[in-house]
Amino acid sequence: MKERKVSVIGAGNVGATTAQLLAMGGLCDVVLFDIVDGMPQGKALDISEACPLWNSSATVFGTNDYAAIKGSDIVVVTAGMARKPGMSRDDLLKINAGIVSGAAAEILKHAPDSIVIAVTNPMDVMAHLVLKTTGFKPNRVMGMGGVLDAARFCSFVAAELKVSPEVINSMLMGGHGDQMVPLPRFTTVRGIPVTELLPKEKIDAIVERTRNGGAEIVALLKTGSAYYAPAASIYEMVKSILLDERKVLPVSCCLEGQYGVDHVYAGVPAVLGSGGVEKIIELKLNDDEMSAFMKSVNAVRELVKSIS
Ligand code: NAI
Ligand code: 2OP
Repeated sequence: MKERKVSVIGAGNVGATTAQLLAMGGLCDVVLFDIVDGMPQGKALDISEACPLWNSSATVFGTNDYAAIKGSDIVVVTAGMARKPGMSRDDLLKINAGIVSGAAAEILKHAPDSIVIAVTNPMDVMAHLVLKTTGFKPNRVMGMGGVLDAARFCSFVAAELKVSPEVINSMLMGGHGDQMVPLPRFTTVRGIPVTELLPKEKIDAIVERTRNGGAEIVALLKTGSAYYAPAASIYEMVKSILLDERKVLPVSCCLEGQYGVDHVYAGVPAVLGSGGVEKIIELKLNDDEMSAFMKSVNAVRELVKSIS
């Protein structure tokens, strides 16, 4: 038994892969919840049986009963429909809003002291719904999208420059949707601005590929959306919170005046530590970056209005 506990709601591709990474990391016990009878139990048992091979003493428990999430430090919400070819993340809005609000009510009931990471799409709107349903403080409700989009951006830059992705650092803002705002001006290769290493046309193409990164994978898979990089991104956030690493990551946060925006979730640079969102960093954006960010924020705001 570990001191820390992380629950994952939704044991599909993203949820189960996240549970696998958490168990491999051995930082916490893991609860995997889904409404499908037997499925989370089967996946949890399978992951548990791999723990001896990973030298991990984490326990992994699969369940259809929300009572099992009691005492969770973090709850990750991945329950809901994933995209099929031709669908945008926003097409998932109505069906997933019902699923995520239901999950949030259970989180409030069984894990009222937890920090929640919303993943289900359209993610920024789902984070808003979790905040509204639980009534938690905004620092305890965030969304994952920017870490994934920034990782995609880094991997494309690394491939273009033929360098290791680990030396690339990038920042990305806005909602996790088609209007996301990759920020080449805040992307560096071991401290060297990427704008000094690649011509504008190449950077523009990488920005566009990043915006379509999710759709590119949906078109290839045909039956669902990405899950390996999303789960790795969730793991990065969970680890920063559980170990109080205070990493600066692009996180969907409830903006309360920052960047002149009030009460809308959007991706911004944030410090993640044991209190959740410890600090939102306000970058000095230029006019083009600010106007792209506001467009993205307004897209999230419109989606929230459409379900209110
Ligand atoms: P999936 O279809 O493999 O899994 C979804 C799971 O949710 C299924 O096992 C289903 O039984 C479960 N579920 C449905 N209703 C439920 C309920 N009421 N309570 C609990 N579980 C319920 O889908 P996948 O690939 O795991 O994606 C999950 C969600 O995450 C999708 O909305 C997808 O668009 C989103 N996503 C978001 C990313 C991000 O960066 N924010 C990245 C990747 C996926
Ligand atoms: C992605 O970007 C589906 O949002 C998910 O892959």
